[in-house]
Amino acid sequence: MSVWAKHQVFEKNSIILLVGILIVVAIGGLVEIAPLYYLKSTIEKVDGVRPYTPLELAGRNIYVREGCYNCHSQMIRPLRDEVERYGAYSLAAESMYDHPFQWGSKRTGPDLARVGGKYSDEWQRAHLVNPRAVVPTSIMPGYPFLAKTTLNATHIQEDMRVQKLLGTPYTDEMIAKAGTDIVAQATPDDAGAADLAKRYPKSIARDFDGNAGAITEMDALIAYLQMLGTLVDFKTYDRKANVR
Ligand code: HEC
Repeated sequence: MSVWAKHQVFEKNSIILLVGILIVVAIGGLVEIAPLYYLKSTIEKVDGVRPYTPLELAGRNIYVREGCYNCHSQMIRPLRDEVERYGAYSLAAESMYDHPFQWGSKRTGPDLARVGGKYSDEWQRAHLVNPRAVVPTSIMPGYPFLAKTTLNATHIQEDMRVQKLLGTPYTDEMIAKAGTDIVAQATPDDAGAADLAKRYPKSIARDFDGNAGAITEMDALIAYLQMLGTLVDFKTYDRKANVR
């Protein structure tokens, strides 16, 4: 019996054919996907990328809770129009501590991967309370309650422990000091600010919501928005050295 005659086994039985197809397709998948788990270069190390501060992480949780990702992506593709509009295209390392990631493909509003520092805290505050106050044609919903809701940070340490389990390098010290770090970041001139900056380089400490009396959900969300895309210094980052 020639080899081709053996092929009849597949051609005459759809179940065997299906199993055969699955095996062949799986080989292709394994060859492409399996090495990514072992290659160090899958996510290149980039200077500046660090885990979120507890306040930023709390803000990120609010971002996810409110479903901001339904209208906003956080990934700038390496296409000219995107780079000209939003800035340097996103690197894998910039979202390596994002669990779950916020890349998305739905852009009812603009991409937010580099929105940090684009506007003042005052603008962000006014925009989140009522987007039409600063962008008259906006269709974004308002979130005025964020400014009135005290941030509930009782679960932040558990949250950091879960993030650690998923691979974010939070140290025991970072987790132990989460509470004081939140206060230090949202309170200007707090005694803990220097300590916070040591643990989280480039973290911004100020009164994000303009209400010195309370740490609100608005503080957390704006702290998060203002750091998006600001960790990597693209003036010194050498893309060519990282091209493989
Ligand atoms: C229904 C869709 C929708 C939702 C949900 C939404 N946005 Fe928007 N967002 C928009 C649109 C449209 C714009 C552009 C007009 C404007 O600036 O308001 C925008 C603009 C923005 C901008 C300004 C971006 C820039 O570069 O000018 C920020 C920041 C922002 N949104 C944050 C958020 C946050 C945070 C949330 C969740 C609390 C959110 N958005 C939820 C639609 C949405």
